Amino acid sequence: MTKDLLIGQTLRFSGSPFEIDWSEAAHWSSRGGVLVEHGRIVDIGDADDLRAAHPTAKVHDYGSSLISAGFVDAHMHYPQTGIIASWGKQLIDWLNTYTFPEESRFGDLAYASDVAGRTLDLALAHGTTTLTSFCTIHPESVDAFFTEAETRNMAVIAGKTCMDRNAPDTLRDTAQTAYDQSKQLLEKWHAKGRANYAITPRFSPTSTPEQLEALGALWAEHPSCLMQTHLSEQLPEIAWVQSLFPNARDYLDTYEAFGLLGPRGLYGHSIHLTDREKARLAEVDASLVHCPTSNTFIGSGLFDLMGLSAQGLRIGLATDTGGGSSFSMLRVMAATYEIAQLRGVAVHPAQLIWLATEGSARALHMSGEIGHLGIGAAADLCVIDLASTPLIAQRSSRAETPWDALFPTIMMGDDRAIVSTWVAGREISTRR
Ligand code: GUN
Ligand code: ZN
Repeated sequence: MTKDLLIGQTLRFSGSPFEIDWSEAAHWSSRGGVLVEHGRIVDIGDADDLRAAHPTAKVHDYGSSLISAGFVDAHMHYPQTGIIASWGKQLIDWLNTYTFPEESRFGDLAYASDVAGRTLDLALAHGTTTLTSFCTIHPESVDAFFTEAETRNMAVIAGKTCMDRNAPDTLRDTAQTAYDQSKQLLEKWHAKGRANYAITPRFSPTSTPEQLEALGALWAEHPSCLMQTHLSEQLPEIAWVQSLFPNARDYLDTYEAFGLLGPRGLYGHSIHLTDREKARLAEVDASLVHCPTSNTFIGSGLFDLMGLSAQGLRIGLATDTGGGSSFSMLRVMAATYEIAQLRGVAVHPAQLIWLATEGSARALHMSGEIGHLGIGAAADLCVIDLASTPLIAQRSSRAETPWDALFPTIMMGDDRAIVSTWVAGREISTRR
């Protein structure tokens, strides 16, 4: 098999810019090379040195574009692609008005496969190489997503979204069928190739205690699976949870009481947390997923990125499409910056791009495998043009540092900035 040598600017991380200074954590090379073989990164270094050492490698010279680890979207809903950017509602009304009617269509395998394929291709065009998706209650929706991802050789995480109350008849299972179908699906897909299964109670308002308990039991039987859900996204949602679970200490307790709090748990949004919830999440080493474009679009609130990362929590970044109205993780980084500014903090570009790659991978317990520009990692890469529009180009032309050249693309870039995306060592989408 031939080797591929990608040449361009390179950015890699040897540590977290939330734990050590970004200047120590991040390493730029203005003329770097990434050597790829058998789907993996086998060497990284100076472009000319790698070229001399590997004269038979096929060279892909991206000039001054930036070669990065592919983006990792740690929370999204592929069945909501069709209703992205739907007007005028906050969370509960938005679910009932737009989301549930659309999700009701995913028992049709052909429809689900069409949307899944379209979603994965859109993600790749935006430089995103891993999606972590909620499906619908229909097993067909799970089969469709994993099958389409397998066709593209993408590392993905997904699961059947379980709901047995407060949802239309077309979208309700039971405690038993949620358990049985999730079990069948995880036996079929978990750790199959690049697929991993996440046990997926949608959120506690749409599950009875019996269903939460059944899914907690399933997780205990399959602890290598991730578990994904939503937590403390909007204030009316939290009040609703309190009325549905009068004995719970708080929202997190509605998961904790049923075995749904653990180190491989992914808690989307996690905006309005109490001190007890924060401490408990940190204590069990759970992962929080920040969905800033969704949090502004649905009107949810301002996630405390700096406070929660100072507590040592794993934090990933996500589009939360169709709650979030962009597939672009660049746009998600920009919204992360804006929300932190509203809380009085300027997040450094090194921290933003780390969150969208290494941070999400860490939240998914896939560090070193995805979201990582380093030897041994999967060659899931994206190549970013730092002058993709006239507006960005005129700004980056003034830059005196690589960070100053990158930041305008973070704030104003989208899929037009993605020159190329590589999945498992194969260039699968290019605009060159
Ligand atoms: N909470 C429960 N379901 C959903 C969903 O589909 N999107 C968002 N943003 N929040 C949710
Ligand atoms: Zn969500």
